[in-house]
Amino acid sequence: MAVREIKTDIYSVGAIDWDRRLFDELIPLPDGTSYNSYVIKGSEKIALIDTVDPTKEYELIRNLEKIDIKSIDYVISHHAEQDHSGTIPKILELYPKAKVLTNPKCKDMLIDLLLLPEDKFIIVNDMETVSLGNKTLEFIFAPWVHWPETMFTYVKEDKILFTCDFLGSHLATSNVFAPDEPKVYESAKRYYAEIMMPFRTSIKKHLERIKGLQIELVAPSHGPIYLNSDFIINAYKEWVSDEVKNEVVIPFISMHGSTKKMAEHFMNALIEKGITVKPFNLSQTDIGEMAMALVDAATIVITSPTVLVGPHPNVVYATYLVNALRPKLKFASVIGSYGWGGKMIELLKGMLTNLKLEIIEPVIIKGFPREHDLKALERLADDILKKHKENKIV
Ligand code: FEO
Repeated sequence: MAVREIKTDIYSVGAIDWDRRLFDELIPLPDGTSYNSYVIKGSEKIALIDTVDPTKEYELIRNLEKIDIKSIDYVISHHAEQDHSGTIPKILELYPKAKVLTNPKCKDMLIDLLLLPEDKFIIVNDMETVSLGNKTLEFIFAPWVHWPETMFTYVKEDKILFTCDFLGSHLATSNVFAPDEPKVYESAKRYYAEIMMPFRTSIKKHLERIKGLQIELVAPSHGPIYLNSDFIINAYKEWVSDEVKNEVVIPFISMHGSTKKMAEHFMNALIEKGITVKPFNLSQTDIGEMAMALVDAATIVITSPTVLVGPHPNVVYATYLVNALRPKLKFASVIGSYGWGGKMIELLKGMLTNLKLEIIEPVIIKGFPREHDLKALERLADDILKKHKENKIV
């Protein structure tokens, strides 16, 4: 990434990863990502805010050379995950006077993950301030976005909030500031869905805590910086709210066409009732797209053939993810077909224990759907509409 001065004496010095397509060997990144790192040159001291993924170590080092950084006083570590912390050992080697400034939990994790020595740390407390001379850093502990040790830094004089993963987006772009709000919105929503959604309750509290701050820039550690802080903060407020939309997410798969026919008939019935359907064919879908749909939907209907007495393994995988992501879904049901028997409903219900769901009567049929099976699917669509109306979702 090129070096950019984002405010007087505050520089973006991280790296863009244009080609990365998977994070944690799990999460699809269709638009790449960036690992943002920032230098704050105070009149007396210099701080580096987070580092970069170790694969991009050389870029960070080169960027520091470009702005002639001869010494670093503090490396502020907001989060111990290696895409931000992984280059700290190299920085400490190149800048031996630097100390890692972080919270107690993050210190323990950095020692465990990077094998850093104890004497390299300075511990800060929640709301503590550290002066760089003409710039004052305030630390705001914000655990569980998305690890237990996460925190933010607020630069009082410049009104910049550095949030690390929080409010970020996996988006590789040459623009240092959010260029195209609809595109950034999609990327930030995907990021929220894949990474932050399980921590909705913590996020609500953190949004309350930062409410009183005057914020001119939100500078996350992935994706572009927000010049309009309300844009991203209001989007998060909507995503974490308890409101759900008149939408049904339908993860499905079909081996010989029976469940496909059921899914299509069911979706048409929902559409005719004015309900938005979001189907995901699990033999080919990007699971990030499904996660995004789960941010808003009121209902999920899991659709599967029976394989070795249970759901298709791709459906098991998707259901496990739904449970782990803890979306604010209110209703669930199951559609499926079997050849000679099975325990699909019991198995799927047992996999959704994290969610407070009301189960609407499933439709499980034998073989290819007959006329009365199609009617049962229309009944399920009716039941869903009724539930949405009763809960003022429509
Ligand atoms: Fe971008 Fe949780 O690391």
